[in-house]
Amino acid sequence: MLPAVEDYRALARQRLTRFAFDYLDGGAEDGRTLSRNRAAYEQLIFQPRVLRDVTRVDAAVQVCGETLAMPAVVGPTGLNGLYWPRAEEVLARAAHAAGLPFAVSTASTSLLESVRAATDGALWLQLYVQQDRRIAEDMMRRARALGFSTLMLTVDTMVHGKRDHDVRNGFRMPLRLTPKLLLDLAMHPRWCARMLRQGGSPQLVNLARSAGVKAQLQAQAAAMSRQMDMSLDWAAVAWLRRHWQGPVLLKGVLSVDDARTARRLGVDGVVLSNHGGRQLESAPSPLEILPEVVDAVGTGLDVFVDGGIRRGSDIAKARALGAKAVLLGRAPLYGLAAQGPQGVADVLQMLRDEFEITLRLLGVPRAVDLDGDALSADHRARL
Ligand code: FNR
Repeated sequence: MLPAVEDYRALARQRLTRFAFDYLDGGAEDGRTLSRNRAAYEQLIFQPRVLRDVTRVDAAVQVCGETLAMPAVVGPTGLNGLYWPRAEEVLARAAHAAGLPFAVSTASTSLLESVRAATDGALWLQLYVQQDRRIAEDMMRRARALGFSTLMLTVDTMVHGKRDHDVRNGFRMPLRLTPKLLLDLAMHPRWCARMLRQGGSPQLVNLARSAGVKAQLQAQAAAMSRQMDMSLDWAAVAWLRRHWQGPVLLKGVLSVDDARTARRLGVDGVVLSNHGGRQLESAPSPLEILPEVVDAVGTGLDVFVDGGIRRGSDIAKARALGAKAVLLGRAPLYGLAAQGPQGVADVLQMLRDEFEITLRLLGVPRAVDLDGDALSADHRARL
């Protein structure tokens, strides 16, 4: 195991093609939202308590009727096949082994059926809604039949954020081989060889064209070619309820009023998220607004948070500020890109170890007991 998530990131940078690493790592425009996400965690200070019995530590929490080994979910990320062949299956298996749910993205590079075949662990479905609603309805129907438990509608991606690095690198879906891209590929022969040997690359390149389950491929193609349904509004909640019996979460909420509306409409939870700094530039960091949202809607609505989680202590901070759990975006992907299945397993284990160390050093050995008392007086005063 490498020392920190940042070491997996450094190794991922070496191993991936430039376009793949930048797609994974980068943010929108000048990266202000992206760096604000990290800054929010860096500024938060704990208030440890001493001489408490911390022999036994319990990191588990209950979320959406499921037990999570720690307050974290492996979040939805699209195009994971860029980093490792059959990446969704690898992530699903690693999440299950770590006792965490895995949220499969609409823009997943594997079919839902194939992810389910790889694990009997908890799977959630992340939904993007295309202009043709039947595509999303079909995905929900298939996910339900496969025993996916929770639905997560992403609401912050009506259009894609402007990502300059993709333009600079000539990266777009479906992949078009420009001279720049060919040079990038030529400089990363190991990445190319792995993809070709294990079938990752053809799967990816042909994604929009290949045979298979038509609806998901259509959904993926639409998601990637940016044909989102931009008319989507709050009426979508009733529509989702007609097609999904389990918990429904909205991912990408960043305002107290929207969280209130979500609760009024009977949504089960919201994920405060700025999409890892990849969408709106100069958006608030989810951690900054978390206390206000929890204060307004924390009873009756589960509040999740994501963006910038790179340490187990970050998970503890989110939980102390009132989040039920966090979503992990890039952290497991750095592990995947650096070292494949072992890398993902190690990153998830490392976050768990760091979380448990934090609980013990805070003098709060049970994750369910973490609250604002674990934060410095200065931060408590602002809650
Ligand atoms: C994402 N994210 C995302 N979200 C979503 O709802 N559907 C998706 O398909 C994707 N795809 C995606 C790809 C990549 C490469 C990244 C990094 C992120 C956003 C993701 O779920 C999550 O909100 C952020 O990644 C959280 O921030 P961190 O943990 O990456 O800093």
